[in-house]
Amino acid sequence: MMRTVYFKVIFFFFLLIIDQSLAADEDGFFYNDFKAAFLTRDGAARIADNGLLRLTDLSDKYQTGHAFYASPLKLKKGSVSFSTTFVFAIASELGANKLSGQGMAFVIAPQRALPGALPNQYLGLFNDTSNGQSSNNVLAVEIDTVYNIEFDTIQGPHVGIDVNSLKSVNSTDPAYHVNGESKQINVNSGEPVQVWIEYDGIDKALTVTLAPVNTLKPDIPLLTLSRDLSTIFLDDMYVGFSASTQTVLTYHYILGWSFKIDGAANALNLSSLPKLPTESSSSQDTKPNLAADSDQGFTYNDFKSAYITRDGAARVAENGLLRLTDVRDKYETGHVFYSGPLKLKGNVSFSTTFVFQLHLSWAPIN
Ligand SMILES: *[C@@H]1O[C@H](CO)[C@@H](O)[C@H](O)[C@H]1NC(C)=O
Ligand SMILES: *[C@@H]1O[C@H](CO)[C@@H](O)[C@H](O)[C@H]1NC(C)=O
Ligand SMILES: *[C@@H]1O[C@H](CO)[C@@H](O)[C@H](O)[C@H]1NC(C)=O
Ligand SMILES: *[C@@H]1O[C@H](CO)[C@@H](O)[C@H](O)[C@H]1NC(C)=O
Repeated sequence: MMRTVYFKVIFFFFLLIIDQSLAADEDGFFYNDFKAAFLTRDGAARIADNGLLRLTDLSDKYQTGHAFYASPLKLKKGSVSFSTTFVFAIASELGANKLSGQGMAFVIAPQRALPGALPNQYLGLFNDTSNGQSSNNVLAVEIDTVYNIEFDTIQGPHVGIDVNSLKSVNSTDPAYHVNGESKQINVNSGEPVQVWIEYDGIDKALTVTLAPVNTLKPDIPLLTLSRDLSTIFLDDMYVGFSASTQTVLTYHYILGWSFKIDGAANALNLSSLPKLPTESSSSQDTKPNLAADSDQGFTYNDFKSAYITRDGAARVAENGLLRLTDVRDKYETGHVFYSGPLKLKGNVSFSTTFVFQLHLSWAPIN
């Protein structure tokens, strides 16, 4: 009896979960953070505890990271229009406006992945063989911080519209128009920048507009392309982001994202976007961790992205298990500390709970 009840309850929750996924509107979505976003991710892409989407991090060179909205969208049929806006930030290990590597792209692709795509100048979009093939059925808007002689015409950071190829069909310096003037945008300043991409399915025109965050959307777009996108798309398309790095370790972040078919994408609430990690937390640890979002406390259900410093034999396993000592050697010590200082002096109360397990050397774990 009990068993049946259990099954029913579990089944009921299962249905609820499925139902919520489907509740993601087929005509669009609105993510002011990515905590509960309906996304598929691969490569280096992670979602931090505060809801920040991080496509690449500083843990390694030559990364790619992808995140796609998990449901297909019908972008080919009829004279469908769409509009999207998102906020990104690119932060290099070398600091604001220094060399960074490499760049990122908003991408519309026939799969929720870009298999076989390369890092470096390939932006996680294509490889040597696939680049330029019309069978890619890919539209991308790249924000590339590095000039590549093979693909680029702009000698420096640039924004480009890509159709199946890294050789952009239109590209320009990152800038925005305000009061009749064109102002430069430093896309790798580590500061958030907002992007609007709009496609008019009747006029067959795509526009791309950038502005520093908290700046009104400029009336004049940065880039335009007159092209019938239905000739590029398949029936089911997926929207998402791709980023890649090379030798300069670089974070590529997306703070919020809104998308709408046949209408204007809902405006993001810029004041409540997830916060980027601060300079001070990144100087304390060469791989600053986003899970550190408060000096009031923290919860780590695993240690995959915990904000900790380690020494001695201490390691974090792939699955997020924290191991203080192992069976490799005798007389080990291992330490782990939460990387942020806490104010415990005065009449402060605190509480903590953790789960531990001892394994003896004759019962090794991996
Ligand atoms: C290049 O990309 C294509 C398309 O995604 C993929 O099918 C192919 O396997 C990739 N080639 C290599 C050598 O990875
Ligand atoms: C590229 O975009 C600019 C700015 O909107 C526009 O003036 C120009 O005509 C576009 N070039 C092409 C080839 O579409
Ligand atoms: C935007 O976020 C702020 C801060 O969280 C909140 O006070 C405000 O109500 C939000 N506005 C909208 C329109 O959701
Ligand atoms: C701590 O509590 C004691 C007794 O209530 C009080 O005398 C003292 O000033 C408090 N100290 C601080 C730093 O708040």
